[in-house]
Amino acid sequence: MKHIVVIGSGTMGNGIAHTFAQYGFNVALVDISQDALNKALATIGKNLDRMVSKAAITELDKNNTLNNIKTFTTLKDAIANNTDLVVEAASENVDIKLKIFKEIDSLCPEHTILASNTSSISITKIGAATKRPNKVIGMHFMNPVPVMKLVEVIRGYSTSDEVTNFIMRVTKSLNKIPVEVNDYPGFVANKILMPMINEAIITLYEGVAGVNEIDTVMKLGMAHPMGPLQLADFIGLDVCLSILNVLHDGFGNPKYAPCPLLVNMVNAGHLGVKSGSGFYSYTHGSKDLVVASQFRKKELV
Ligand SMILES: NC(=O)c1ccc[n+]([C@@H]2O[C@H](COP(=O)([O-])OP(=O)(O)OC[C@H]3O[C@@H](n4cnc5c(N)ncnc54)[C@H](O)[C@@H]3O)[C@@H](O)[C@H]2O)c1
Repeated sequence: MKHIVVIGSGTMGNGIAHTFAQYGFNVALVDISQDALNKALATIGKNLDRMVSKAAITELDKNNTLNNIKTFTTLKDAIANNTDLVVEAASENVDIKLKIFKEIDSLCPEHTILASNTSSISITKIGAATKRPNKVIGMHFMNPVPVMKLVEVIRGYSTSDEVTNFIMRVTKSLNKIPVEVNDYPGFVANKILMPMINEAIITLYEGVAGVNEIDTVMKLGMAHPMGPLQLADFIGLDVCLSILNVLHDGFGNPKYAPCPLLVNMVNAGHLGVKSGSGFYSYTHGSKDLVVASQFRKKELV
């Protein structure tokens, strides 16, 4: 396996492209937005520079990695007869994903394995949109991809043993640790993580404590490296909301109902780091964690 296509060049797609390219794969990175592709290449360059400065890789490794990535704005141009694997990391929206999988199924040669990095959408449903459900699988990378070791490998109802074993081996060749899980809403990671994040937002919404206080309790009390509200900003509040909706619909259990505050923030376009504001506000270049003005304690007059 040498030639892979990564679809979507946002937060996850650029990290997935970076990682495959660093381990010698030829990567065709596709996005409908040229702007997103330009940003992705800039991010990959910056992340590689950081790795060089920490002596984790050499300048030559950096240049080889960048040379292994080509960018495209259409699937037709990116997919070739030698495409072995497609990893889809487009927006977390079921209609977008089903449309993409129908298209790649018709464009890819028979041997190509089709993987999705979806955080929560059913791999079985995605597979059923293709004529090769046995070759459709979940490869759920964690953010930031070049750093995080885990990949949840999700078997759809029809995914074959052969394809699963193959993807487990490919994941190991990226110096990552694959964990095989079955296809139920949220898989393992988000079935546990998202209710915790939602509960942190409900805690804020109910006025039990402020943003800093909630995150500090979880960081210092539970030894989490990042508080749940900061983590939600980092993941993207729109992504968190759509995963909660999938859990809520999939299990039909009210315990997964998204907090109204989360819904409001997404409607207002406060999506976390990527929009510059969420539970915290993010000024370009600043590393300080500043609580967003909506959540700062008001001065008493
Ligand atoms: N953000 C996270 O922490 C995280 C973690 C694990 C998995 N995921 C999953 O990864 C996927 C991508 O998430 P993200 O956070 O990178 O999203 P993002 O919004 O940062 O990026 C999505 C990209 O997909 C592009 N896109 C949309 N439709 C497309 C199409 N038809 N063809 C090509 N490109 C298209 C958009 O232009 C955008 O650049 C989602 O399925 C998400 O659930 C996200």
